[in-house]
Amino acid sequence: MVVPSFAALLTDRFAAALPEPGFDPQVRLSEHADLQADGILGLARALGRNPRQLASEVAGRLAGTDGLIADRQVAGPGFVNVTLSGAALLGRVAERLADPRLGLGEPQAGVRTVLDYSHPNVAKEMHVGHLRSTIIGDALARVLTHLGGTVVRQNHIGDWGTQYGMLIQYLAEHPADTSALTVRYKTAYALFGSDPAFAERSRRRVVALQGGDPDSLAAWRAMVEESARYFSEVYDRLGVLLTGADTAGESSYNPMLTGVAEDLERLGVARISDGALCVFGAHDADAAPLIVRKSDGGFGYPATDLAAVRHRVAVLHADRIVYVVDARQAPHFRMVFDAARRAGWLPPRVEAVHAAFGMVLGADGRPFKTRSGDTAPLVGLLTEAVERATAVVAAKNPRLGAAELAARGRDVGIGAVKYADLSTSRTRDYLYDPDRMMALTGNTGVYLQYAHARLCSILAKAGDPAATAAAAAVTVTGVPLHDAERALILRLDGFGDVLAGVAGHCEPHRLCTYLYDLAQTVTAFYERCQVLKAPQPVRDNRIAVCALTARTLSTGLGLLGIAAPQRL
Ligand code: ARG
Repeated sequence: MVVPSFAALLTDRFAAALPEPGFDPQVRLSEHADLQADGILGLARALGRNPRQLASEVAGRLAGTDGLIADRQVAGPGFVNVTLSGAALLGRVAERLADPRLGLGEPQAGVRTVLDYSHPNVAKEMHVGHLRSTIIGDALARVLTHLGGTVVRQNHIGDWGTQYGMLIQYLAEHPADTSALTVRYKTAYALFGSDPAFAERSRRRVVALQGGDPDSLAAWRAMVEESARYFSEVYDRLGVLLTGADTAGESSYNPMLTGVAEDLERLGVARISDGALCVFGAHDADAAPLIVRKSDGGFGYPATDLAAVRHRVAVLHADRIVYVVDARQAPHFRMVFDAARRAGWLPPRVEAVHAAFGMVLGADGRPFKTRSGDTAPLVGLLTEAVERATAVVAAKNPRLGAAELAARGRDVGIGAVKYADLSTSRTRDYLYDPDRMMALTGNTGVYLQYAHARLCSILAKAGDPAATAAAAAVTVTGVPLHDAERALILRLDGFGDVLAGVAGHCEPHRLCTYLYDLAQTVTAFYERCQVLKAPQPVRDNRIAVCALTARTLSTGLGLLGIAAPQRL
């Protein structure tokens, strides 16, 4: 069942009252009424009309016969303020509660999104940038799926390239070195620079590996598996959706690269320059080209991504491809998308989005660094977050049993790390600050978890929430609503519109902002309205509003990949 938001309903109603092409009523929540339409002003200017007069004509035509609108007023230079009827507001709460999906419907049905995220590199440290991609990608995957879309997760791990020839050669020569793979990688890299004979043996190893030499391939496979075990340890700790089945590493495109290069050249998209096969920008011929095939015949990162785009459209049938990758790779993706469009591999009906994110900074404002040399710095980071969170939970609720404390510590700690990341606008740099992310007040994951748990405790005291919700549906008329209650119902009503924005713009922080507003609104509501002690039927209605708030919070947190425990 789709329950449209009041903002959407009123937008339609305004458009019907003023059928002018290009009229966008811009209906939004307002402090002065329930909702306000600001768009008449601009239209009046364009039509050369008096805005207040036009606004009052429109307001006069808004009424309708369904009892939705209780009052409408022209305000300011030409706004229209709309107050909804209490029956409509409470009826909406009951309708959403009656639907297992809260009336969101499935607006992404029929849309297939290929989502490229996480993508760490084999034998290298998985750094906080990969953590960010993993967390943002996971939230997007959950939101798109929840809205009825199909998500094809693609973990484009770095598992191919000349550096792995070097590492395999080192492993073969130093079987006794049992340090972490990432450490051996660094040692091999240093040796490559200092020992020309080793560098030469490494180069021969690359040729052997690319030529399919069984020993080299077996060593490569073992190395990839070792890294994959580490990646999945991080994914398990984080509780993200990614599994080994989602891995489509760079190596998987290797067999396609020769064809990609040939086709690009044949199509006239790429041409030879200084021995390399290059794609020059369509607009800026002076900009550095995309190198599809190096002058030594080797393929690199760009060729792999071109093969991946083609594969994702032709074989995975993407309607949309979203890359959750560091903002510094923006030029790369611009050129890849441009080349793929020109080659016809990325047809106009398929949208390609670089969902770029900013850098992760430490509390000192400098690029965040995990202690290098750690076997698994990211795992250490998460362990630390869970430890801190466990202390926070224990201090707040000393009566929790050991098992429950451990579980809640994990929920809060991992939730804090995710929320701190997700709540920052994606494109901005993000400050990794363990102290701030565990704060019980302010825009943090744990604040939202507590807001949810508090609602659960009220509902538990109230008795069976399902029964009270049903009761709410029949007691909707003639009951005056408190302003704080109206404000809460109106906030709840915007959930679907916010999720549509998250899906459309690939911006999970919109959901964080919404949930934070909702938690603050429900706090203001308790301060001003009694729930359990209110007289009937107000009590039942308010319990229903609390039940919808709890479900909206837990659904929203769930879509961010954050647990919403019943008690903390
Ligand atoms: N492995 C790369 C890195 O660590 C990111 C890969 C992003 N995805 C892609 N299709 N290029 O920087």
